[in-house]
Amino acid sequence: MLRTSTRAVALAISAVSLLGFVSAKSGWGEACDQSNTHLDTNTYNLVTDCDPTTYCASNGTCAYKGCRKDIYPFGYSDYAFDQLPPMCPQGQFCPDEGDQCLAQVPVGGSCQKDRDNECALADNYRDLAGFLNTNGSICLNFTCYYANVTLGQTCVTDNTAYTAYLDSGAAYAFIVSRDNCANGMYCDGTALQCMKMKRQGETCSGNKECLTYSCAADGKCGKAADDPIHPGAWQYVLVGLGILILIGGVMTGLWFMHRRSRNENQIKLEQYYNEQIAYRQSIMSMSHAKNSLLSLPPNTLPDVARSSLYRDDSGWTSATNDGLLPPNMRRDSTSGWSDGEGSRGHMQRADSEVLLMPGNENRDSRYMDAPEQHGGYRG
Ligand SMILES: *[C@@H]1O[C@H](CO)[C@@H](O)[C@H](O)[C@H]1NC(C)=O
Ligand SMILES: *[C@@H]1O[C@H](CO)[C@@H](O)[C@H](O)[C@H]1NC(C)=O
Ligand SMILES: *[C@@H]1O[C@H](CO)[C@@H](O)[C@H](O)[C@H]1NC(C)=O
Ligand SMILES: *[C@@H]1O[C@H](CO)[C@@H](O)[C@H](O)[C@H]1NC(C)=O
Repeated sequence: MLRTSTRAVALAISAVSLLGFVSAKSGWGEACDQSNTHLDTNTYNLVTDCDPTTYCASNGTCAYKGCRKDIYPFGYSDYAFDQLPPMCPQGQFCPDEGDQCLAQVPVGGSCQKDRDNECALADNYRDLAGFLNTNGSICLNFTCYYANVTLGQTCVTDNTAYTAYLDSGAAYAFIVSRDNCANGMYCDGTALQCMKMKRQGETCSGNKECLTYSCAADGKCGKAADDPIHPGAWQYVLVGLGILILIGGVMTGLWFMHRRSRNENQIKLEQYYNEQIAYRQSIMSMSHAKNSLLSLPPNTLPDVARSSLYRDDSGWTSATNDGLLPPNMRRDSTSGWSDGEGSRGHMQRADSEVLLMPGNENRDSRYMDAPEQHGGYRG
């Protein structure tokens, strides 16, 4: 709504200077002068001697406000919401002073600056209502009008110049022009007749001439301030392609990474299997060797087999017992022997490569680590 926007601009412009005055204002019950009540020349805010929660009553003192025009009024930050002065009901309005609710004013009656809602509604207010008026009524030059003037008819216009400031601090006039033309039309400033609003791209000299309410710096009607951005089809395609390429890139990267670790695992597995096979083969050859050492001619009687342990021609030697033992027991003392006694001379060669030692051919040789040379093999 224009009223709202112009007031917002005014508030923004004046906020700093206004706050500076607030502390110097009179509080409740303190003296004030109604003749000091006026509109700020830059912002058109109402200025009184009283603080924001009070107004200057006719008896010359500041009194608490009896109504509010905004849901969240200025100056009430220390108050709970239900402590605020009441809003006015339908058909009434709260004036800028905020003293009490008053009945809405009919067309031709006086209203306060930009206070469209102080004006009574037209019977067909729904048809007249637009974003440049309030429910089809409008306050121009402190007088109530309906926004019902049609094409080519004489209209009333109200130009308000606000002082605005650039970032650099330089001041410039910001002109807001309002009129009582019906929706879709504007009041031409020189002809004072209602004209059709212009479409985007047509030349303009003020915001109100444009349907978008935005006359761009190049003198043509521009986009509305709240116009959403419509990306072109190529932008959708580009974004879609970008997403696809990203996904593809991630996938490819993962695939390469996975392939590398897969190759590493493959090598590890091959090494493991080779080791296992080598291990198995050595076990098998050991087992084979054992079997071939243990194998006796078929139908050998147990006694013969046992006695074959002590015979030279059997190929069966005492040392072969080692094949039956776990490796760490190979040099058990029982496998040691001494041929010191002549009766056991036949054992002189009863030895395997495993237990062979230099001088083994000598009958007097003995194992140094076999102190129990008399045990075993006596059976
Ligand atoms: C002045 O008028 C206000 C509002 O009518 C009232 O509340 C207040 O008591 C009055 N003050 C004096 C001193 O009469
Ligand atoms: C405008 O009309 C609506 C719907 O009838 C109503 O709720 C609202 O209070 C009216 N505004 C004013 C300022 O009268
Ligand atoms: C505003 O209204 C006053 C009377 O209330 C009149 O004298 C003055 O010419 C009007 N100004 C415009 C710009 O219509
Ligand atoms: C606009 O409203 C005013 C006040 O009711 C009336 O006098 C005038 O004829 C209306 N104009 C149009 C074009 O309806």
